Amino acid sequence: MTDNKQLNHWIHEMEALCNPEQVVICDGSRLEYDNMMALLKDAGVAKQLNPDIRPNSYLIRSDPADVARVESRTFICSEQPEDAGPTNNWANPIEMKSTLENLFAGAMSGRTMYVIPFSMGPIGSPIAHIGVEITDSPYVVASMHIMTRVGSAVLTELGEDGEYVPCIHSVGKPLDDVASDVPWPCNPDNLYIAHFPETREIWSFGSGYGGNALLGKKCFALRIASSMARDEGWLAEHMLILKLTNPEGLSHYIAGAFPSACGKTNLAMLVPSMEGWKVETVGDDICWMKFADDGKLYAINPEAGFFGVAPGTGMATNPNAMLSLSENCLFTNVAETDDGDIWWEGMTDRAPDHLIDWRGRDWTPDSSELAAHPNARFTVSASQCPTIADEWEDLQGVPISAILFGGRRATVVPLVNEANSWEQGTFFGSIVSSEKTAAAAGTIGDLRRDPMAMLPFCGYNMADYWQHWIKLGQQNSAQLPKIFYVNWFRKDDQGGFVWPGFCENSRVLKWIFERCEGTVDAVSTPIGNLPTLDGIDFDGLDMTDEDIATLLRVETDGWLEELPLIQAYYEQFGDKLPKELENQLSQLRHKLEAANQHVA
Ligand code: OXD
Ligand code: MN
Repeated sequence: MTDNKQLNHWIHEMEALCNPEQVVICDGSRLEYDNMMALLKDAGVAKQLNPDIRPNSYLIRSDPADVARVESRTFICSEQPEDAGPTNNWANPIEMKSTLENLFAGAMSGRTMYVIPFSMGPIGSPIAHIGVEITDSPYVVASMHIMTRVGSAVLTELGEDGEYVPCIHSVGKPLDDVASDVPWPCNPDNLYIAHFPETREIWSFGSGYGGNALLGKKCFALRIASSMARDEGWLAEHMLILKLTNPEGLSHYIAGAFPSACGKTNLAMLVPSMEGWKVETVGDDICWMKFADDGKLYAINPEAGFFGVAPGTGMATNPNAMLSLSENCLFTNVAETDDGDIWWEGMTDRAPDHLIDWRGRDWTPDSSELAAHPNARFTVSASQCPTIADEWEDLQGVPISAILFGGRRATVVPLVNEANSWEQGTFFGSIVSSEKTAAAAGTIGDLRRDPMAMLPFCGYNMADYWQHWIKLGQQNSAQLPKIFYVNWFRKDDQGGFVWPGFCENSRVLKWIFERCEGTVDAVSTPIGNLPTLDGIDFDGLDMTDEDIATLLRVETDGWLEELPLIQAYYEQFGDKLPKELENQLSQLRHKLEAANQHVA
């Protein structure tokens, strides 16, 4: 089978449990990919798009009951519940294993069991790690080809005794007779996405979609990797990585954590509005960082492709994503045009007069439903992105100068502020939040906290994760990146966005770059270092002085109103809350109160 004894043993064990018709070890070849697509076409789930318009690309329609990650069925099965913490669904590992073993028993009968050796990160990088996914889904095999590095080279790297994370996946629909198969088999009534951080295993049953089924992504590269990173002194983060180059040709690498649907892919592929500045892409979703001997934090993108949300992506919002999608793509749950191409809301200003919607029904602009599912996705190799940085696959990674945290805040949080220490930066990361409801003028809306954008992705207790961040910052030898808190989503009293966002975010990136270089001043405030009123180039933007003040103001009252909410959020972590964060909170309170008195 393979040269790795442990892997052979596991494959045999899973074969005995799942009872597939045959076992195939994937080699990652083009032929294998084409075979998977042929199977999916025969099954009636994939359709080849018009090759004159979009060569070698396919439209796939999933079962309407299997369209997104399901956080309520995602479990962290640590031995102790407190090691999963209050923000995760905990399940007893012994009970969960027994439930899963029952479900997996015979689950692949009549199907092929594919064994996918994959590398998260360039093969051979000291920051990369290997996984092996066993699955009965050809869609997963094809998607893993794009999203990870798959195949024989991984097995060579693994050798006889290398370590890998075992990831077992089944759509959960054994086949008694092939004729009774459905285009997109799944089992939504028995859905489990289970992580075992102590034994570093992933078991996923019942879904064939995205993060539930492509186990290298959220399950391995974030949940299991975050717990490996804690044990081994590194960071596995829900961050994009970009390279920013100034007109003189000097570059800095920036990582950024934003909750899902805050424009991470757009920022990673930004076309700067600033003359002479350049953004290149290293990654759009996940970032693994390890300290090197020079004390710097080096990052790789563990993925090899983009699994991006299609709706909202168009030439106006993200031309580089659109240009990446010109060929060799999978499109899942988008709409189909009459000439055999794809369309989704936001791709163009005007919808075509007629489409087949994501469920395969006729659609016209009069229809009351969306043509593409809001979580419709494109899957494409990162190498097709016109802005991919030359060094995106460098084995040693890229040195990170700045880390950004940001949520979707209509109120209180300014456009950008720089933490004055790693500890304050960790505090900012811990309080990242988005307003769930529209805030009335002068009040804070209902907040969803999403610390470091890791809420659904942290594989252990969030408070221990914060402690890990703080501990990394206390290493004497570390040359730490600067940390910034950004907010593109500030609204005015009329409910309109104050900041134009998109390509104009390059103005903020420029300020961050200059702070890294030490060439621009900042104002020291209770919430860190803010740009001076002329620190950010607002030239040519349709903004009033009042708008600029709103974006760059320390809203003392708003922050004071928010502190008890942070306190209440922290309380759920009890004794595990790092004392450094408690100190940050009380220091912030004192500084804000002092500032208030000063004004009074
Ligand atoms: C994603 C997410 O799919 O963050 O990347 O939800
Ligand atoms: Mn993501």
